[in-house]
Amino acid sequence: MLFITWVGGGVSPYFGLVAFLILPLFLIVAILIIPIGVWWERRRWIRTGKKTEKLFPVIDLNIRRQRITLSIFNTAVFAVIIFFAISAYKAYHFTETTQFCGKLCHEVMHPEYIAYERSPHARVRCVDCHVGEGANFYVKSKLSGLYQVYSVLANAYPKPIPVPIKNLRPAQETCEQCHWPGAFFGARQKLITHYLNDEHNSPWQINLLIKIGGGSPGTAQTTGIHWHMNIANRVEYITRDSTHQDIPWVKITNNKTGVTRIYNDTENPLTPEEVKTLPKHRMDCMDCHNRPTHIFRSPSYSVNLALLTRRIDPELPNIKQNGVDVLTADYGTTDEALKKIEQKIWVLYDPENYPDTVLSNATIEQAIKTLKGIYATNFFPEMGVQWDVYADNIGHLNSKGCFRCHNENHQTEGGKVLTRECLTCHTIISQGSPGEVELAEHPEGLKFKHPVDIDEAWAEIGCYECHTGATP
Ligand code: HEC
Ligand code: HEC
Ligand code: HEC
Ligand code: HEC
Ligand code: HEC
Ligand code: HEC
Repeated sequence: MLFITWVGGGVSPYFGLVAFLILPLFLIVAILIIPIGVWWERRRWIRTGKKTEKLFPVIDLNIRRQRITLSIFNTAVFAVIIFFAISAYKAYHFTETTQFCGKLCHEVMHPEYIAYERSPHARVRCVDCHVGEGANFYVKSKLSGLYQVYSVLANAYPKPIPVPIKNLRPAQETCEQCHWPGAFFGARQKLITHYLNDEHNSPWQINLLIKIGGGSPGTAQTTGIHWHMNIANRVEYITRDSTHQDIPWVKITNNKTGVTRIYNDTENPLTPEEVKTLPKHRMDCMDCHNRPTHIFRSPSYSVNLALLTRRIDPELPNIKQNGVDVLTADYGTTDEALKKIEQKIWVLYDPENYPDTVLSNATIEQAIKTLKGIYATNFFPEMGVQWDVYADNIGHLNSKGCFRCHNENHQTEGGKVLTRECLTCHTIISQGSPGEVELAEHPEGLKFKHPVDIDEAWAEIGCYECHTGATP
């Protein structure tokens, strides 16, 4: 089997499992049988009185037969040792492959693996984030892996898998191996295209400059999100819920001067007793980037993207709204969902419903194919996983994200407020529907304009209170 892996290149994870983990186990058992056999036989000799003075064999290399036997024995032992070394090495590498983590444990890891394959980190191995370098965490992760194997066999694992996952290694030793903070730079422009829930699926674009910021005084890049949060300061917080969405207490310490400020939620504060006893978490990359790779897209985001890339034709009337609706309906299994999505779209686009429009079957078929694809890669009813199961903390559109703290309810005793001012984090360069785009003429950018009239509600309550990722 080793030979096959050498000449065959990539092998399936099940082949790897047999070749590098199961067969070597037999080898270990076989070797263990030798001392047991010796002990057994010796006991038998003593019992039957066969034991003579000479306990060990006398080897005489002048006798041809003994010479040959000894050579064969030595060669075999040598071969076993070599095979053992190779398979231990291979087993180590095999358990570090994405195949091992993502495919072997197919049923459980399916949602994470599928999302991972379509993420910016699709070429980064699972273990680079989940285990990191060094023997210490390798052993720790394999020990917790043993329990996981048991819970899969006993079907005792939780669905969905709860987050934040315990014993995830500190970001300094994983994320920062590739993204060292000193190399953060400037701002990032993001052009986001939305489609409205009207008959024409009217497009609406927002062009944002997100102030990511720099991390190195050497490049005079000491501003922005990363600088304030990770580099110049140390932020600690207390949370009241297991998923870290309710954060009533935040403390910031300036790394240089040691000056601290404590912000308390004024609407729902902690008692001094709770502040003393509850554990304090140090904010790191994962408190904002909690979905860097297992990104389960919301139906609204997915349909927007499909319309933008023309995998769904925006000429299909109401397809934004209808697409989101068929994706969000309740389905028991993936198979059922795929079947029903197809049926529902055919019913919705019955020519009787659209007497004034010519609907081509090819356009509808293409839309169905795309919607089924979106479902299969973002919804996993068998594991209870979909976009709204894991909050995404990076923005504030569909979950609280930054507004967990930056909601203007958090104040210091001196009355300083944790800002919700839009310009703190990004500048709007342009916005509007194509043809009527409003362009910024000032470095401060534009005042946000909500695509549909909701008065000033967007300034008073969080976006996430109306926008859930499905139809608002
Ligand atoms: C870029 C880094 C990164 C890579 C690569 C990565 N993960 Fe994750 N993974 C994370 C983070 C961060 C979390 C969420 C931690 C949290 O919220 O506590 C996570 C969470 C998970 C969870 C918990 C459930 C969930 O969806 O949050 C599972 C299971 C998981 N990862 C499996 C995998 C598998 C399998 C692979 C490889 C196919 C992989 N991960 C690759 C960073 C990564
Ligand atoms: C083995 C190296 C490696 C590790 C470890 C790693 N990343 Fe990345 N990450 C990358 C690469 C390479 C890219 C660039 C992908 C691209 O430009 O398309 C990237 C991109 C990103 C992006 C930008 C994504 C986007 O939308 O374009 C973020 C955010 C990010 N990583 C966060 C993290 C976090 C958080 C962790 C730790 C949980 C992490 N990374 C661990 C290599 C890594
Ligand atoms: C306060 C929240 C916050 C923290 C903490 C944070 N980031 Fe970010 N990071 C952001 C935001 C916001 C962006 C903008 C990206 C976006 O909108 O998708 C970003 C962007 C990035 C990018 C993409 C940069 C680019 O040029 O495209 C990388 C890589 C990244 N962060 C890595 C990290 C790493 C590694 C850490 C931990 C050392 C970290 N971040 C900590 C909020 C944060
Ligand atoms: C755990 C609470 C918490 C979360 C979550 C959080 N922040 Fe902050 N943020 C703070 C604190 C505390 C400060 C420091 C305020 C001060 O200077 O006293 C701060 C400051 C900032 C600043 C500098 C503000 C200024 O006035 O110069 C930026 C920019 C920022 N945060 C961006 C973000 C972004 C973007 C996110 C979401 C991706 C985010 N923060 C999420 C607690 C948080
Ligand atoms: C604490 C930082 C912070 C504050 C304050 C903030 N935002 Fe944001 N906002 C972000 C981040 C980070 C993103 C990027 C999310 C992403 O990468 O998709 C974002 C995204 C957006 C988007 C694009 C959403 C989308 O997907 O189309 C809009 C629009 C927006 N913000 C408007 C506002 C408005 C209006 C305010 C003031 C009421 C505001 N933001 C306040 C951090 C902030
Ligand atoms: C009072 C509820 C409410 C609040 C608060 C709100 N919105 Fe909306 N939003 C809506 C409604 C209703 C629509 C119309 C839905 C449609 O026609 O697509 C909409 C549509 C949108 C759209 C375009 C359609 C889409 O969903 O792709 C964007 C972008 C948007 N809102 C951004 C924001 C941002 C950013 C904030 C916060 C700064 C915000 N909204 C706050 C109710 C709200």
